[in-house]
Formats: sequence, structure tokens, C-alpha cells
Amino acid sequence: KKTDDQILVIFGASGDLTERKLIPAVFDLYCGGFLPEHFAVTGVSRSEYSDEAYRQKVVFENEFILKKEAGEDKLKAFADAIFYQPLDTKNTDSYNTLKQRLQTIDEAKGICGNYIFYLATPPSLYETIAEGLSHVGLNKAENAWRRLIIEKPFGYDLESAKQLNSKLLACFDEEQLYRIDHYLGKETVQNMFVTRFANSIFEPLWNRNYIHRVEITAAESVGLEKRGGYYDSAGALRDMVQNHLFQLVALVAMEPPVKADAESIRNEKMKVFQSLRPYTKEDIKTNVIRGQYLGSKVRGEDLPGYREEEGVKEGSKTETYVAMKFFIDNWRWGGVPFYIRTGKRLPTRVTEVVIHFKPNHHHLFAHDKSLSNAHNTLVIRIQPNEGILLKFDMKIPGAGFRTETVNMDFHYDELTDVYVPGAYERLILDCMQGDATLYSRGDSTESAWQFVDTILKAWEEDDIPVYGYPAGTWGPEHADNLIEGENMTWRYPCKNLTDDGN
Ligand code: BG6
Repeated sequence: KKTDDQILVIFGASGDLTERKLIPAVFDLYCGGFLPEHFAVTGVSRSEYSDEAYRQKVVFENEFILKKEAGEDKLKAFADAIFYQPLDTKNTDSYNTLKQRLQTIDEAKGICGNYIFYLATPPSLYETIAEGLSHVGLNKAENAWRRLIIEKPFGYDLESAKQLNSKLLACFDEEQLYRIDHYLGKETVQNMFVTRFANSIFEPLWNRNYIHRVEITAAESVGLEKRGGYYDSAGALRDMVQNHLFQLVALVAMEPPVKADAESIRNEKMKVFQSLRPYTKEDIKTNVIRGQYLGSKVRGEDLPGYREEEGVKEGSKTETYVAMKFFIDNWRWGGVPFYIRTGKRLPTRVTEVVIHFKPNHHHLFAHDKSLSNAHNTLVIRIQPNEGILLKFDMKIPGAGFRTETVNMDFHYDELTDVYVPGAYERLILDCMQGDATLYSRGDSTESAWQFVDTILKAWEEDDIPVYGYPAGTWGPEHADNLIEGENMTWRYPCKNLTDDGN
């Protein structure tokens, strides 16, 4: 695809995300030869920096850029394309100054007016910045395009997400809006789409007739990583479920799109969100489990409890763990339970989708239960150790017909000669090329919020417990009761990282 000449304007330029993710991603694109001939980055934030001081900060002194591998010349040439403009987001005149500055950079570099505005600021500024840009006419241009990338969180609940959508749509068209969800930039997440629709062996089985249940886990071993202030007002449901986990649900559950383009794919994903069976308050009590980690000692290390973390309010009830069971009421999935869970301070970092196929309805052979469960599972490992694992039964050698489950295991890193771009790198490039396939559309963001909003409201009433779980464990035991069926449990991957679990 062609990448037009353009300026990438980053709001929140002095922040953590810009330094850790955005500039390194753009640098990788530069090193990979993906940037157009005429290109510039303009960092914008409240702080005062000269161009030179800003280049020092985000390029030369940035520990997230792999300098040694790149070499001095590349670094220097990349840094020359970076500029900085201070701006007071609330002062409308400031946007005129920005406009003039962009014109100057544009003319010097011969760019011709294509701009991406990347909002990497606190969410409270999204509307103000969109209005500021629109006020000075930076939102539209004749013979050039303008695009706006909006970081998560997109809204705080359904109401605020709707309001944000409508404010943004008053300044930009939907085609100009790119709502980022970095999970969609992960190679293995995209590969789910390919696994399902490029092969003929999975899709015929991918429905209520053959699938017993779907399980999605996004476990993290880390705690708050100095983000206590933000996290305490968000919690796991807003931070992980509404966006990342629901994107995974949509990719597992969607119908095949007519074409592999943004509109067709996003239409199908939207239908999944529309088919989520809404919860009643009673359902929430029994089908949604929330938890919060408690201090504990893990491998000799004392880990603090959530309430002792910096930035967390005293007696906070914010959940650091959620597990839930829900249904997708449509032809394909009628009656198949979906189980999802996510949490911080769990035993390991792992994200995976597990398709549990129905057991055989006639048991010819004796399955050795001490070795494994007797049903086929397909495990799509999103991270780490990316790959796909199929579990099926084979005969144990020797007399009789005893069976045991064995693994057919593909690891992504076996494709070693292929360069795997990082999530931000992929997503930024897509936006540069005008491809919104891997970004969420406004209506589906609202639909996901609608589902989650009922849970948030029920929790606010405060008669639903927040269960404690010791840091370093798999969350509250109550989550185990969500899974119905004899001998059926969550998959507990990785007792250690080389183990593929049960
Ligand atoms: C972010 C959340 O969106 O995703 C974090 O705000 C979380 O709390 C992170 O740690 C997880 O992303 P990844 O790519 O490490 O799975």
C-alpha cells in the first residue's frame, strides 16, 4: 500500500506513552523503510522544549529506542524529522500558532497538508483538542486528508463514550477517526481471523453443534506499575474487558465477512456486540466475579496488596480481577457459554483463547483421566510463546485401547525469518495508509460499553462482593464455580512458562 507524505502530530508529546511506544514505533517504521519520503513528527504538549531538546529526550536519550542496532546516522536522520511545538490545549489562539508551525514544517519538507493528530493525552482533553483543531480548520483540508487517533480509554462508561463520540463527530467524520485498541495490532490477534477464515478445517466446527464453551484469559503477573491513580478510577472491567477482551470475543465469534476490508469486518464485529445477551442484576451476582489482590509472599518476594499500592484510595473497592460468563444469542452461538477472565498479579503473563470442543457422545475407549481431560481443545496463544495448540486423543501403546491427550503445537517463532512488527508500529502504519480495519468503530465501542455499563451500575449499588485473592494466585476461587459441567475448570496455563498447562 502507498503511504502518502505526511506529518504525525502527537499530543501528549512529553508523556510516557510517546516515549515508550509511539516514537520507538515510528522509528522502527523508519528503519524498515515504511515511512514516506517527505515526513515529519511534531510533538505537542504544555511543556517548553526546543526542537533540539525534544529530539534529545525522545530519540537520543530514549531507552526504548534500540540505538546500537540502528547506528548513529540513522538516528540522526530520524531525529531531524522531529519537531516540537508547545501548546496550551485550553487556549484557542494556541491552535493558530500550531497551524502556522505545521505549515512551516510542511513547506520546508514538501508535505502538502496530510496530517495525523494522535491524542496521547489524558482522556479529559480529547474533546477540547478536537474542538481546538476544528476551530482553526485543522480538521479538514482541500486536496489533503486529516486523521485523528484516539487512545484508550474511550469513555468512562456508556454515557461518556456516547458523548465523546458525538463531540468528536461534530469536528471530524467517522472515516477520519481511528480509535486505537493495541490488542488489534498484535500479530496473533490478527492471526485468529486468518486461522478461522483461511482454513477449511476449523470453520465447519466453529459453532454450537461442536463447541462446548469458549474461554478467554488475559492474565498479567504485574501489578499497577506506577499507574495507581489512573487504575484506581478505572479497574479491570474498564481497563481490559470493555476493549481488549471484547475485541477478542468479537474475532472468535464473528461471521465470515464478505470482504477483508474495514467496513465488512467491522460490520460483522458489530453484530457480535449486538447479540450479547444483556445481564439482569441477578445474572451479574452469579455470573460476574470481581476480585482484588491482597499482599502475599511470592517466591520469597513480599508483594503489596492492592490497597497498599501508591495512588490507590484507602478502602478502595476497585477490581483488579474480573471473570464472567455470558452468552451470544445468535444462530451460531445459541447456548454456548463464553467465559472470560483477566487480572493483575496472577501467577504469570498469558493471553489465550481456548475453544473447548464437545466431548464424544459415545465413549468407545477408556481415557486415562489422570493424564488429561477427554475432549479436544484448540488453544490460540496470543502471548507470550505465540502459537496454536491442538489437543487430541491418541492410543497409549500396549494392550487394549486406552487413550491419552497429546499436543500438536505450532510456535510463531518458528517463522524466524519473518519480521514481526509491534502492535503500535502496525497500527500507526495502518492509519498512515488510511486503513481503519484494526481500529474500533464508534458504534461497536458504544455497544461494548452498553454491555459493561450494566455491570458497572450493579457494582455501584455495592451489594456485590469484591473477593480478595492473594497476589500470585489465579484469582478468587468463586470464579471456578462459573464453569458448569462435570470435571470442567478453567485452563490453568503455565504452572511455569515451559509447561503448556492442563
Ligand atoms: C493496557 C492496560 O491497555 O493493556 C494495562 O491499560 C495492561 O493495564 C495492558 O497492562 C496489557 O497490554 P499487553 O499488551 O501487555 O497485554
